[in-house]
Amino acid sequence: MTSKQIQTIRTRDDLFRMISQIRQKRSTIGFVPTMGALHEGHLSLVRESKQQCDFTVVSIFVNPTQFSPDEDLDQYPRPLDNDLQLLQQEGVDLVFLPDNQELYPADCSTSIKPPLVAGKLEGESRPTHFAGVATVVLKLLNLTQCDIAYFGQKDYQQVKVVQHLVRDLNHPSKIVMCPIARAEDGLALSSRNIYLSAEERQIATCLNRTLQETMQMIAEGETDGRAIMAHMTQALIEGGVTETDYAVIADAESLEFLEQVSRPAVLLVAAMVGETRLIDNCLIT
Ligand code: PAF
Repeated sequence: MTSKQIQTIRTRDDLFRMISQIRQKRSTIGFVPTMGALHEGHLSLVRESKQQCDFTVVSIFVNPTQFSPDEDLDQYPRPLDNDLQLLQQEGVDLVFLPDNQELYPADCSTSIKPPLVAGKLEGESRPTHFAGVATVVLKLLNLTQCDIAYFGQKDYQQVKVVQHLVRDLNHPSKIVMCPIARAEDGLALSSRNIYLSAEERQIATCLNRTLQETMQMIAEGETDGRAIMAHMTQALIEGGVTETDYAVIADAESLEFLEQVSRPAVLLVAAMVGETRLIDNCLIT
């Protein structure tokens, strides 16, 4: 028996038509925005949407505006057939596959100035990144008219940017953050992990180890933010990373650095392992 082909839509007009039909049935729409190269992390978001909503839409679009010229836009993995097969197995109702022209027509000049929380951490290393993310996410939320959009905690700052964006612009979609999916050795799943050599893959486990050790240190009574940051930076260097970008303890909402631990907080790390930039985080509640 051959299983039914998953439904894909490539244009905004077709998507609008399809979504109006779903809306007429008063079905709830769940949405998972992705750039493809899907892994268990993405699939866990899909499962959450399938549990909570009547109709699940996934988008696959490698958004050029969130890459700076020196980043990996051209090399970004695009295993579309495999992605569609995975989504079909999960029972996704619709996949939106726009091309650049569809989301950024030639005369399209409007973009989003991202909320304040975008300016720190990732925003310092990648100054144009969150404007690109905020712009494309708002376009996709508008197009899918979703009740709930699902984002992974691995990109914690991205989730905060999107939550503040919908709050500030009174967008009706609810933004849900789902837990980080990890490999057995603790490495946070990421589409960019495929860039790691076998040796780098081993080194990369030190990001999660550093977070776990630091959580333990805090559980045992450490409250000094600077001591915590120094410990994390040292642990990453000893773990073999090529360069540490940041290793901080921050307020979980504003992402302001905490001199003294207060709750809820978040530990956030970003480091280069060889040529690959990895991020990870852990919430302290
Ligand atoms: O997290 C991602 O994959 C991307 O930043 C997103 C949210 C799909 C926007 O392009």
